[in-house]
Amino acid sequence: MNLSVTLFGITFKNPVWVASGTFGYGLEAMEIYDISKIGAVVTKGVSLRPREGNEPPRIVETPCGMLNSIGLQNPGVEGFLRDIYPRIKDVDTHFIVNVFGETEEEYVEVCRSLEDAEKVVAYELNVSCPNVKRGGIAFGHDPVSLGSLVEKVKGSTRKPVLVKLSPNVTDITEFARVCVESGADGLVLINTVLGMRINLKKERPDLSTKMGGLSGPAILPIAVRMVWEVYERFGRAVPIIGVGGITTHEDALEHIYAGASAVQVGTANFYDPYAPLKVIEGIKSFMKEKGVMDFSVLVGRAHRMDIKS
Ligand code: SIN
Repeated sequence: MNLSVTLFGITFKNPVWVASGTFGYGLEAMEIYDISKIGAVVTKGVSLRPREGNEPPRIVETPCGMLNSIGLQNPGVEGFLRDIYPRIKDVDTHFIVNVFGETEEEYVEVCRSLEDAEKVVAYELNVSCPNVKRGGIAFGHDPVSLGSLVEKVKGSTRKPVLVKLSPNVTDITEFARVCVESGADGLVLINTVLGMRINLKKERPDLSTKMGGLSGPAILPIAVRMVWEVYERFGRAVPIIGVGGITTHEDALEHIYAGASAVQVGTANFYDPYAPLKVIEGIKSFMKEKGVMDFSVLVGRAHRMDIKS
């Protein structure tokens, strides 16, 4: 049975990755199990300079999910290379760095700084974090800025560039189109959905930033719908990485049947760090039951079945 996938010239041992911001840099999970079983680790967002993130409270539970407004706390690219990279560089799986900047130059600078870090096989441009005032989402919500950013980063790196898109737009396929036309190697769908909770005891919003990003099982149908829409428009012309609400292998398969060539397990990691391994095993059992030898035949399958019915 072949679970490996080759996307943008890189072969991943399996299509189950972990989502940015839900697995740190892999260091904690590494202490409890062999993270090289995971198809790829997407790191917490890395920016040019260290960031403290937003004031607490910055996490609150919701029915079937959670809201976060961390604000991209991270040690900056130098801190990453100095303190984290030496501890991950021998792990036998791929790392993808989620890159954040306040300006185009900052994105380019972060990628340049990581260019010689061999373990980092690709970049995931974060243009969709809803919790920052400058940069990031300002690119992700404006097609012109988005296209210019993708072109600039593509022109300054040898590594594949993926773009993680925001669901907080009217038509995600338009943003996907801009990325494809600007040379993006892959699309990561979706980041968190903008939401808010009011704390009735305190009579004010729960989060210090008032609003934050909703993730977890509650957003699975939204993510699957957006993967479906983008696949319907572009087919396999650009690989889609599905993320949003994946807790079980069935959730992952919904993304894959909708058109994702790989998936990322996110919020589930917070309460079950073994979730990605369970998803991998579940997909293997599913393929065995169906008599499917090659994972790639599952990608976008619901579209083909849709035509037949
Ligand atoms: C955060 O750090 O605020 C979350 C990151 C993201 O939504 O991309």
